[in-house]
Amino acid sequence: MCGIIGYIGQREAAPLLIEGLRRLEYRGYDSAGICVISDAGKFGIVREVGKIARLSEKLIKHPVKGTSGVGHTRWSTHGAPNHDNAHPHTDCTGGIVLVHNGIIENYLELKAQLLAKGHRFQSDTDTEVVAHLFEEQLFKVKKAQSSDAAILAVARAVLSKVKGSYALVVSANVWDGKIIGLRKECPLVAGKTQDEVFLASDIPALLPFTKEVVFIEDGEAVILKPGAHAPLYKLTGQAVRRDAVTVPWDNLMAAKGGHKHFMHKEIYDGPASFEDTLRGRIYDENIDALLRELGLNRSKVKGLGSINILGCGTAYYAGLVGEYIFEHFAGLRTHVEIASEFRYRERITGPGTLALAISQSGETADTLAAMKLLKARSGVTTAGIINQIGSTMTRTTGGTLYTRCGPEIGVASTKAFVAQLATLYLSAFAFGRVRGVLSAVEYKSLCDGLVHLSSSMRMALQRFEPLAKDLAARFQNAKGFLYLGRHVMYPVALEGALKLKEISYIHAEGYASGEMKHGPIALIDEQMPVFAFVPKSSSVYAKTASNLEEARARGAKIIAVASEGDKGIYKVADHVFESPKSMTEWFDPVIGVIAAQLFAYHVANLKGLDVDQPRNLAKSVTVE
Ligand code: G6P
Repeated sequence: MCGIIGYIGQREAAPLLIEGLRRLEYRGYDSAGICVISDAGKFGIVREVGKIARLSEKLIKHPVKGTSGVGHTRWSTHGAPNHDNAHPHTDCTGGIVLVHNGIIENYLELKAQLLAKGHRFQSDTDTEVVAHLFEEQLFKVKKAQSSDAAILAVARAVLSKVKGSYALVVSANVWDGKIIGLRKECPLVAGKTQDEVFLASDIPALLPFTKEVVFIEDGEAVILKPGAHAPLYKLTGQAVRRDAVTVPWDNLMAAKGGHKHFMHKEIYDGPASFEDTLRGRIYDENIDALLRELGLNRSKVKGLGSINILGCGTAYYAGLVGEYIFEHFAGLRTHVEIASEFRYRERITGPGTLALAISQSGETADTLAAMKLLKARSGVTTAGIINQIGSTMTRTTGGTLYTRCGPEIGVASTKAFVAQLATLYLSAFAFGRVRGVLSAVEYKSLCDGLVHLSSSMRMALQRFEPLAKDLAARFQNAKGFLYLGRHVMYPVALEGALKLKEISYIHAEGYASGEMKHGPIALIDEQMPVFAFVPKSSSVYAKTASNLEEARARGAKIIAVASEGDKGIYKVADHVFESPKSMTEWFDPVIGVIAAQLFAYHVANLKGLDVDQPRNLAKSVTVE
């Protein structure tokens, strides 16, 4: 998704803007550009298709000087990823410059009106209409004013015409060097040091410069000014007071830490993320604190009738695991749905429904919209399992149980998935205890099991890595993969297939193994390997194993994620990831997914692909 950075300070802006954009690369993009504002107020725009490294090279040949500016990474929605469509965009006079994340839904209608008035367009983007709308408003008045009130009045007039979502960062050469940030449904955060002010779509872009940040809310505007001022307003003009918060992340947390790729590092961060997420939220003495984070209390939990979990991508698959866990341990009817499906259909929610959003970024447009719909219903309580501190979703839901992973940079989600599982176990076990489904002894023993899981994860990482590498070399040219799992390992099969697809571009399908004979078995031959999750502790172990025999009889090579000491599995599998024994089948997803993550990583790495920023994908999908 598009990334934005803005700066006013005393240092040369170009290198700073580039550094900020680099920190936003994980969001996914296909072109990038910056505009540096010279001390004389002139705009120097440089844009380039492809990676930021290319933009940097271009800047060496065409340097732009000045101590303020804006930058943007574009993830194409309207118009091809080419030079002219890259941001920043300007108006006909070149007196306005802006960058945008989001979608202007009525841009065609606006563009037609503007063309009829004689405006000339240089791009196919929806964004450019906003530049021309600013031109219309700004140069309508004889002498453009640069007071905050005048700038806000212009922005208000422009935005009253615009339908859609945006984080917009705009400057005009008649604004005395000021830059305005405007937000509706797309993230925008301001940062400050003693003599500099920043704007960005996301915290990682600010981390090299400051940890003091202020989140901009929908319908608000922030005006960056020389002299390190960044007053916040409602679009109506009313001043807003909001204290800065200190972000507990550091630059090092966002660096690769000796790994070749962020994804590899983040797979290895999994155990620590799992432990951090459990900290201070586990065992009887912490149940109340845990419920408070979720915006709940004991009597609310007792009164719950059902749970609706919503998410997209990996978060959705974590939710599917949650469905099994909540039903079993909390005795609560649980329904999990892809957020983009939920929002466009009738779903009946009774009184006592808990709507639970799962999201790494806390900005996914579909999950946000689905949660807003649920929030508006009577009898529904909303809560989130979210990683990004202060993200829009955390401010939409009644409570947030943060996953504590720090920034996840690789587009393919890994450590966030295991931390999401940690929060689901924590909540389901606590709900079960409060609702009397679990006895004190059962609850304590499950908590003990959770605490020990991270050491099994570390052991699994060590054991699985060499085999994952070896198998990647053997199977990198496979035409496709079938991932199979059953019961609580079924969502893991879906997640495993997603990981392979996302980063290695090999088609992979995740299936419930019992369903194999209803279709996918037709695909099976020597060219279609099967990646199966068959932990010995599983209540459906024998059934999954016999599904594998069926596949093998048709020529498929079988890779099994099984349990240590299970000699029998070698009768049906060609290659075996021997997982450390787990206390109960319910914990197997946390270990099993590691094998799938490492395998996908090594295939993509061997193929020389861009592991951290796979083609066409975005880390944070802030449009529908
Ligand atoms: C994108 C990312 C996925 C992620 C999904 C949901 O598709 O590439 O890795 O799982 O969005 O994102 P969220 O931030 O809501 O977890």
